[in-house]
Formats: sequence, C-alpha cells, structure tokens
Amino acid sequence: MSAGVASWTAGPGSALQGELKVPGDKSVSHRAIMLGALAEGTTRVTGFLEGEDTRATARVFEALGVGIETPSPSERIVHGVGLHGLRAPVAALDCGNAGTGMRLLAGVLAGQGFDSVLVGDASLSRRPMRRIIEPLTAMGASIDAEAGGLPPLRIHGKKSLQGIDYSTPVASAQVKSAVLLAGLHARGDTVVREPHPTRDYTERMLAAFGWPIEFSPGFARLAGGHVLRATRVEVPADFSSAAFFLVAASIVPGSEVRLRAVGMNPRRTGLLAALRLMGADIVEEAPREDGGEPVADLVVRHAPLHGIDVPAALVPDMIDEFPALFVAAAAAKGRTRVSGAGELRVKESDRIATMAAGLRALGVAIQETPDGAVIDGGPIGGGSVDSHGDHRIAMSFAVAAQRAGDRVEIGDVANVATSFPGFVQLARGLGMGVEGA
Ligand code: S3P
Repeated sequence: MSAGVASWTAGPGSALQGELKVPGDKSVSHRAIMLGALAEGTTRVTGFLEGEDTRATARVFEALGVGIETPSPSERIVHGVGLHGLRAPVAALDCGNAGTGMRLLAGVLAGQGFDSVLVGDASLSRRPMRRIIEPLTAMGASIDAEAGGLPPLRIHGKKSLQGIDYSTPVASAQVKSAVLLAGLHARGDTVVREPHPTRDYTERMLAAFGWPIEFSPGFARLAGGHVLRATRVEVPADFSSAAFFLVAASIVPGSEVRLRAVGMNPRRTGLLAALRLMGADIVEEAPREDGGEPVADLVVRHAPLHGIDVPAALVPDMIDEFPALFVAAAAAKGRTRVSGAGELRVKESDRIATMAAGLRALGVAIQETPDGAVIDGGPIGGGSVDSHGDHRIAMSFAVAAQRAGDRVEIGDVANVATSFPGFVQLARGLGMGVEGA
C-alpha cells in the first residue's frame, strides 16, 4: 500500500482548460525493467512511470541481483545481467498492487535455476493466477498457489521448460506475455494465439531488444536460445492516464484540454473510438513515432454525449478505461450498454460492482450484468463513494464529481500512486476541483 491520504473531496467543477503531459505508460515501464534486466548490456529507460507498481517491479529485479540506477526522476539505467544472470532472492518478492508485475514475473522466473516466491498486497492476493499457472505448468514449470489459484506464488526452479502452442481462453496481454517470457528460457517454439488481440508491448519490445519474434494481432511466435541486447526505451505517456482528462473535458461544459504526446498504440485506444461514437470532440494532432510507439497530441473539447452499445470488438482495447467510460455514460443522454467485459470483475477491484455502487450512491441509474452494465445517463448528485483501493475507480469518481450537483467524498484513494502519481496536482492545474493530496 502506498503512502498518501485516504480520501479526496472533489467537485463540483468548472470548465477544464490547459495543456499537460501525463506520466509514462505503466505496461511499457514494467516491460522495460524486465527486458533490460535480462539483456546483455545497459538499457536506458526514459519517461519511466514513477508509480508504485513499476517501482515494485524495479525493486524485485534489484532483489534478483540487477543493478538499477535512477539518474533523474522518470529515468532508469538497467545493468542487464543476461538471460541466465539473475541471482536467487533471499526473501519473497513483493509485487505490491501490480497484476502485470506478478504475472509477467512468473513467466520470467519459471525457467530460472532457483526457487522464488511472489507476493502482493491485499488486492493482488485476491486476483486469479490459474490463467498463468496452467500454461506455464504445461511448459514444465512448477508453481504452487494458495487455494483457488491465488497468490502468493511459489515457483520451484531448476525445471527445464519446453515451448508450447497455447490458445489463451481469455484475451489477456498478461497471460500472453507470461508465456512468451517463459518461452525465452524454453526449448523450441512458443506460440500464443488469442481470442481477441491484446496489447503487443512484449512482442514489440522483444523485437527492439533483438530477439527474433513473429507477431500479428492475436498471434505471436518465438523460439528459445537467443540473446536480448540492451537498447534505449522511450516510454510514451500512458493513454490510460490521459483517459480521465478525455472524459472530464468531454463532460464539463466550456472545457478544452490539450494532452501532449499520448501513447496511441491501437490496442490501447478503444476508449477514443467509444467516446467518438458517443459524440465526443477529440482531435489527434501531430501523429508521430516516439521510441517505436505511435504518439499524438490529443485536443479534447466539451461536447454533448449520447449513450451507445459499446461494440464488443473494442472491449480488449479499452479494458482499463471502463471506469472512465461508465462516468461518460452517466453524463450522457440516453442508455449505454456494456457487455463482454467480465474481465472487469477480476481487476484491482471488481470494477463493475465498485462503479455500480459508487454511481448509484451519486443517484445514477445503473444496472449490473454478469459481464457489463446498463447505464442511463442523467444528473449526477453529490455523495460518498468508496474506491476499494482501486486507483482507476478513485480517479473516475474525481472526474464524475466535476459534473456533480454537489461535493463527492471519495474514500480509499492512496493507490492512485500505483499508476498516476501527481494526479491531483495535474487535475487541479486544469481547473478540476479535487482536494486531499
Ligand atoms: C496489462 C494488461 C491488461 C491491463 C493491465 C496491464 C499489461 O491486463 O488490464 O492494466 O501490461 O499487459 P490483462 O492482460 O490481464 O487484461
């Protein structure tokens, strides 16, 4: 659990105005540490997310014998030890709140010559790990979990891994990445096939580190026995963090905000498509590449939104943005239906249940379904909501509060530091009403 205040008071707000760059991408930052650690040579990472999740991953690799320097905030120099250079840790490895950290690390550690234990905070300790234990076990790994396939994970080393041709039952970049990372240490080919394409940062970054890999949406293949070569990694600004301001500026009359250099990987920008379907006014300016990733400046202006049926094909491309989308739907005219998003129930909190409880407390008509929700837009009132320690829930209610008729008290917000340190200051700089940090 991160340090920080336990609650915020937010809204009602006035128009958002201004320009900013949100912090670095969480997914890319985790992977930069991991591949940098396993590479030959020294990797410089710029734009690194100084969040609790990504710092936990860096600490884990330090505990595995990797030297990591912080020459300035949001920079890391990772002294790679090579594929076989990690050292046995002396204690359990703490992944904090990070599902990405734990699941990808399990893939890295499954093929090592030593035992290791991965632990996490209360939220991570409730998140399903069978989805990675099953394929890694099929590759020859030996991993024990608690009842129900929950953390801690006890990984028994000295197992020789064999490549696998694996069709993931859930669309999960974390599962895909765990299998591919284990595949680095495996004999033969490792193939992952997905029911819907998910974010491809592991594949892109493996290629950037010189590992031969073939990939296309929903498919990846690599073979063991190569070498990762250190490189520079420029981390783009996190689309998932930008998402809160895209929604806030869309729903508060008079707003106009420019978000600089936002990562625009198409596997991440489903929310942009969904908001545009709802009538949002968001313009992409100066599209370009930074460090091998597409980025653009996004200019968002207030626009009246209307409800939509969120297209199923967009769901994996906006899986982290549903809390923000629920707020956009609450502020829209008419009905929004979300389905095919059952994965939301196993994120940092059950995001369908926590958003439904919070929106209802603010007077919004929302009905839960097993894999989504039906939201009827209308006035948002003041009240008290509980974030259940989930960073994205806390920030989404800070956004909802800007359209609320009265103040919103938002509890259990300290974990915002896992993905978006400095959120309150940046939000206030745009004119959002949020206090408590
Ligand atoms: C992530 C993948 C997604 C996402 C998470 C980060 C990643 O999880 O929700 O925040 O970096 O691979 P799933 O792949 O489990 O959907």
